Amino acid sequence: MKVTFSAPPKAPKGALAVFVMEGGKLSPSARALDKATGGRLADSLRSARKSGKADEFLVIEQPGENGPARLILVGVGEPGKLDALGVQRLGGKCQAFFNTLGEETVHVALDDLPRAKIKGASAAAEFAFGARLRAYNFDKYRTRKKEGQNGKLSRLDIQLRDAARARHEFEGFDKVADGVFLTRDLVSEPANILYPESLAKRAQELTRLGIKVEVLTLAQLRKLGMGALLGVAQGSAREPRVVVMQWPGGSRAKNAKPVAFIGKGVTFDTGGISIKPAQGMEDMKWDMGGAGVVIGLMKALAGRRAKVNAVGVVGLVENMPDGNAQRPGDIVTSMSGQTIEVLNTDAEGRLVLADALWYTQDRFKPQAMVDLATLTGAILVALGEEYAGVFSNDEKLVRQLEKASKATGEKIWHMPLDEVYDKQIEGDAADIRNIGTGRWAGSITAAQFLQRFVNKVPWVHIDIAGTTWSRKDAPTVPRGGTGFGVRLLDRFVAEHYEK
Ligand code: BES
Ligand code: MN
Ligand code: ZN
Repeated sequence: MKVTFSAPPKAPKGALAVFVMEGGKLSPSARALDKATGGRLADSLRSARKSGKADEFLVIEQPGENGPARLILVGVGEPGKLDALGVQRLGGKCQAFFNTLGEETVHVALDDLPRAKIKGASAAAEFAFGARLRAYNFDKYRTRKKEGQNGKLSRLDIQLRDAARARHEFEGFDKVADGVFLTRDLVSEPANILYPESLAKRAQELTRLGIKVEVLTLAQLRKLGMGALLGVAQGSAREPRVVVMQWPGGSRAKNAKPVAFIGKGVTFDTGGISIKPAQGMEDMKWDMGGAGVVIGLMKALAGRRAKVNAVGVVGLVENMPDGNAQRPGDIVTSMSGQTIEVLNTDAEGRLVLADALWYTQDRFKPQAMVDLATLTGAILVALGEEYAGVFSNDEKLVRQLEKASKATGEKIWHMPLDEVYDKQIEGDAADIRNIGTGRWAGSITAAQFLQRFVNKVPWVHIDIAGTTWSRKDAPTVPRGGTGFGVRLLDRFVAEHYEK
């Protein structure tokens, strides 16, 4: 779907959407049409018992000679409550509804509403962003369309006086949406198509945007001593890869430290020898969600030419249980030199990240490090599918992320790190155990494990096991891969790391 911006035409035509506020109050464009059609809008609202509440839609066919062919009344609720995020969500809901109408183009009269917190070009850009985010679908493997799947809507035309400004403001949003879509695509791909080598190839396509991409092969990972990551990979016929992406958009000064993003990229997680139950195992195709976010984020940053030096590192492995697989009790030596007793081969994400984190801080000396991982089922127990869990050794970073979270609506919750939890991963035969001794606080012991591989770098770990995939539609996120994290971190970079 394409979004366009244009000046309001003299005579309305085609399918046109206008806003109705709480209490049935009409937007300026709606009022003008009501007048031109002898009161058709007010009449129709009354007989349909609609009053401009949020999420109300009403279609009027042939509202009259002086009206468009089709008129869509969109309830927006109390306009004083409409802020940037509210308008973005409205855009998403509109796109989903318009897509059911059988129209190829729908025009929207994007009027300023009284007391709204956002107006004009900025409101139009947010509306457009929301609509684009909702318009995503992953249907490349369908040879026949499902009943009711994919409407025809191919253009959303947003009408406002300052169309040129809106078009300009939308440019950055459009690039972020491109990044979100890449993440959703990667997360949605099945594991027979997307495995370490093929995922690395997808990352390599980012070179077109000016990103430097290196793909570390098995031999190179061995040379680097990434024994923790390699232990996970050894039970699979697919070779592991580590991909390093660099976007040099910021200062060229030699000492300009980058901000680094690290992703767990387990392209399929069977659990290994500590194998998972069959029920729901298919979900583990999206166990590379963290890597997906990092790759999508790099695309967003490069796409909008962000003035930041950003590094993305993803550890790509498949966790399988073949004859060469690692066994519970095996002891591996990580790149950091610390030894790890692998007591459960299903706690593999932390093993991959241990080496990816160490490698990143060792090579790049970043000013800050953010890792993302579908790391624990326990984070779902704690926070469900709405909030991602955030763990950090640096309060300032958490505050920065919380600010970006409020602005983007990608919700996070600050979880604790504490020495008392760290005791639970103290090793017996080796330095560290890969699971806690107790049964509880599984997300925290996982984060404690990661912390042992970050040294002094300000660091945040985001457990996105609950937020990477959704079974229900949300205003700007259709069900399936959510792309959760791309908007959050793009904003985090824009607000705090661009100069
Ligand atoms: N990839 C899983 C975590 C996960 C669970 C992601 C559900 C998305 C949805 C991870 O590798 C895992 O298996 N974690 C184990 C850790 C346990 C063995 C300590 C878990 O959460 O059960
Ligand atoms: Mn696992
Ligand atoms: Zn996993």
